[in-house]
Amino acid sequence: MRHAGKLITFEGPDGAGKTTQIQLTAQVLEESGYSVVRTREPGGTRLSEAIRQLLLDPCYKEMSGVTEALLYAGARAQLVSEVLLPALAAGNVVLCDRFVDSSLAYQGYGRGLDLEMLRVINTFALHKLGTFCTVLLDLPPEEGLGRSAGVAERDRLEQENLSFHRRVRDGYLILARDYPGRIKVVNASADPRLVQEQIQEYVMAYLTGRDQGGAFE
Ligand code: TYD
Repeated sequence: MRHAGKLITFEGPDGAGKTTQIQLTAQVLEESGYSVVRTREPGGTRLSEAIRQLLLDPCYKEMSGVTEALLYAGARAQLVSEVLLPALAAGNVVLCDRFVDSSLAYQGYGRGLDLEMLRVINTFALHKLGTFCTVLLDLPPEEGLGRSAGVAERDRLEQENLSFHRRVRDGYLILARDYPGRIKVVNASADPRLVQEQIQEYVMAYLTGRDQGGAFE
């Protein structure tokens, strides 16, 4: 095995450019000889993708915050056991579009659910995952929602008002401040090439062991 398996998660508001940046990162890593697995949340397994449909469908207006948090954690538990743990054990670099910080930011800071309860259910969902590194693409919500406007019909979460998305952004920044070893902030308003450069710096520091990342806590 050339490289030990490592997990890098990408976080940020809707429209921060995560998908494009993850794709570019994967390409660069593959060219450097890393074996890369890409996945996303909610989703990434048959069951988690089915849960994703429930979570994002705007028709479920009655969904309570607790139900939402448990469904995200359920989709996550399945992804961890079915995809992440095996891919890491096989020595892959796993790039995951959103992960557990999304639940703290959206369900915790956005919806106002108890952060300690969210930590408990997600610690259960992450079972034995260990350390990872998180790239936070930071962007004011006005910019993010503007970028994703008109691309497709807004999903259930995107339909939340601006103050919800402001709380999500502030929540992410609080998490980054509280866990500076694991969460690295990149200014996603910058030119996409600069954003990619900054991401590569953080990713390579983690993959080469200069940065240790951290466990979810
Ligand atoms: P998605 O289309 O994947 O969003 P994006 O393209 O912006 O990454 O939709 C995922 C939505 O689910 C997004 O609005 C964030 C939200 N979400 C949560 O609220 N909690 C979570 O734990 C996760 C993983 C996502």
